[in-house]
Amino acid sequence: MNAPERRPLTPDFHEHDWRPPASVSVDDGFVTMTWDDGARLDAYSLWLAENAEGFGLEPSSRESMLEPRDLPQPGDLVDAAIGPDGAVELRWADGRTNRVHPGWLRFVADGRHAPAGGLPDPVPWTTGDLDAPPTLDGTNVLHDDDAMMQFLIEVTRSGLCRLVDTPTSPDFVGRLASAIGPIRETNFGPVWSVESKVEPDSTANTGLDLGQHTDLPTREVPPGFQFLHCLENTVAGGASRMSDGWSVSEAIRREHPEAYSALTELDWAFMNRSPDAEHRWIGPIIDRGSRHQPLTLRAFYPVRTAPHMDRADIPRAYEALRVFAEMARDQRFQLEYQFAPGDLVAFDNRRILHGRNGFDGAGVRHLRGCYLDHDDLYSRLRVLARRHPTTQREVPT
Ligand SMILES: [Fe+2]
Repeated sequence: MNAPERRPLTPDFHEHDWRPPASVSVDDGFVTMTWDDGARLDAYSLWLAENAEGFGLEPSSRESMLEPRDLPQPGDLVDAAIGPDGAVELRWADGRTNRVHPGWLRFVADGRHAPAGGLPDPVPWTTGDLDAPPTLDGTNVLHDDDAMMQFLIEVTRSGLCRLVDTPTSPDFVGRLASAIGPIRETNFGPVWSVESKVEPDSTANTGLDLGQHTDLPTREVPPGFQFLHCLENTVAGGASRMSDGWSVSEAIRREHPEAYSALTELDWAFMNRSPDAEHRWIGPIIDRGSRHQPLTLRAFYPVRTAPHMDRADIPRAYEALRVFAEMARDQRFQLEYQFAPGDLVAFDNRRILHGRNGFDGAGVRHLRGCYLDHDDLYSRLRVLARRHPTTQREVPT
């Protein structure tokens, strides 16, 4: 097979391998392609028109600029064939011909264009799997794409990753987050401190024990990731605790099915109480999401305002809260560790339940934190995986 003179543009910025199909046939407006290893793609002719260079594909943006009213008719595709160099060649009734990159077609056939493409599969964990957060060296994470990619892979896979030996400068957590994507700013600001205060504006800023929770269930979409960076820690106590909410939820489903029903089906109202902010949302504690939204845990009792359900459901809803809180602290699920200066812990705020043991007023415990949305961290990881020479555009799982 000859090398192509110029490979057709694809509707993305990937460098796809050249993967000619073994067969191409046209039937009833579809082009069916098969590959030697059994892969198959049924590509509708109008979709091919939208995405083909020389038809709908706009070369600089790589987007389709074909307004749906200008689409061809399904019968306008006269023929499709494998070209001499392996490109898929389309011939249309108006005499136009297009060449389509077979590697991009294979990419779609493999489902790698979907949101999960380019990301590692999440792996739920318990304390049977981990006795500490997955931990990586953080000394070079800002300057080494490979270190950054391994960090983002672990945060995506386990929902939790600890970097050690990062610089203990107050702006480090914001610089790291900004190197990934736009910080998700909240009423706490873009980057905030967690430390004991004389007049705390949040339960985080006291020395109280904090039960397992997720932050900001008061929002329509709670922040996807939370980064906490330790600058100083000389207090007695104050250990951090993390539980994988996916594992906790699954155990509740198996072991306490009535509580699981209440936690997934009954709504609660949430509201943050602050002199200058009043965000509100409503939803179940375990929000299984819709068809394409991941599970979101709405678990922060200080901002849970009121049951939003029939009176008859309220007693079982409260009983289910008790089950949830006990399971979240069960030793099967809960990791406990101390923050050391230079530690940065990143976790999925919609999946991982976090908490903190109480500590007294002696000593200093100072963390700096910020949020990022899922979209931006995943985008950064996909782009790193696309460009990274050692992974050949595919994230190891
Ligand atoms: Fe928190």
